[in-house]
Amino acid sequence: MKTTLQIESLALALRRYPIQKNETLQAWDAADEYLIEHVKGLALPPQSRVLILNDGFGALTCWALAQQFKVTAVNDSLLSQQSIEKNLEENDLHGATLLTSLDVLSFDVDIVVAKLPKNNRLLVWQLQQIAQLSDKSPSVVFGAKAKDVHSSTLKLFEKHLGETHTSLAKKKARLIFCEKHIQLDALPNEMTSFDVPEYQLTLSNHANVFSSESLDIAAYLMLKHLPHSDEIKHIIDLGCGNGVLAVQSAKLNPQAKVTAVDESHMAIASARHNLVAHGIDPSRFECRANNCLDEFAENSADLVLCNPPFHQQHAVTDHIAWQMFCDAKRVLEPKGRIVVIGNRHLGYHAKLKRLFGNAQIIASNSKFVIVEASK
Ligand SMILES: C[S@@+](CC[C@H](N)C(=O)[O-])C[C@H]1O[C@@H](n2cnc3c(N)ncnc32)[C@H](O)[C@@H]1O
Repeated sequence: MKTTLQIESLALALRRYPIQKNETLQAWDAADEYLIEHVKGLALPPQSRVLILNDGFGALTCWALAQQFKVTAVNDSLLSQQSIEKNLEENDLHGATLLTSLDVLSFDVDIVVAKLPKNNRLLVWQLQQIAQLSDKSPSVVFGAKAKDVHSSTLKLFEKHLGETHTSLAKKKARLIFCEKHIQLDALPNEMTSFDVPEYQLTLSNHANVFSSESLDIAAYLMLKHLPHSDEIKHIIDLGCGNGVLAVQSAKLNPQAKVTAVDESHMAIASARHNLVAHGIDPSRFECRANNCLDEFAENSADLVLCNPPFHQQHAVTDHIAWQMFCDAKRVLEPKGRIVVIGNRHLGYHAKLKRLFGNAQIIASNSKFVIVEASK
């Protein structure tokens, strides 16, 4: 796996963080290289104001800082932000401003350089953010795998920002160029909501939240089997998304504190919104943007609920689920338990049994199993 991105005389050391043993994926892709080549060709002067969106691991941010541009990098993913910070440090580059996907972008920009997000709702939100930037028109260029650029994607650019065209494909990557014609005075509310009538839940979702248009079918099954007991004191909803499991378990266990954890800033904001909207007293909950349970104290929770992710950025992976299970074991009190839901084929039962020495299936249907393991 290559860990040096060489652009003429500039060599950037880039890795995906958190570092994993036997990592096989490099920290940049052909779309990053294509974007860099394009911006390099523009010969922008030092101190040009560059807004970078969705930089996966820091390649774009590191390169732009090395050109002495004034760089603001916006991400919804805390893991991407941590990766950008580590790679900047590794390359002795300083001075980028890192913002989250919900921060207000109230500054002037000369160019927007972005990776196309996987989620169209997030894309629309980001196009609206660009449309709301000061009325000087920055150049806007997005990079993506060519197979992810559909005519429907380009229509979103046309609708929310202005005239759009694409480059030729190069190493299976493509650039999208957009002229900003639309100027928004204010940003629309990008939250959407849906009801789960059986449980009297109304769940609101910021643009980049997992299953933001309807309840995930695994979460739906999990709702039926959430533990409740007077003895439960601290519940962690690990990978909380919109906080559906946190809200319902807080309702079922009124004596317990609940911590909702996710690496997406929009998920954390949505979970906080939903806990408040369902009348959970703020003294009873905490919503925390975090990588799994990094920095959580040992023996500090008695129940962990988890509907784990199986993607990081565009890559399918089960290493995050495994990290979540290992972290849960450390953070659970003796006799504390983890309740996990997953697709049958993911083999969580065997994984939890290996880690905890016990695991039992507490419910299942044709697609999913719910497994409980105790410390
Ligand atoms: C399958 S979704 C479950 C969401 C919600 N709990 C539900 O049941 O609908 C998994 C969640 O894990 C989050 N996630 C992914 N990687 C993470 C990490 N390293 N640390 C914390 N959360 C993570 C994702 O952002 C996503 O919201």
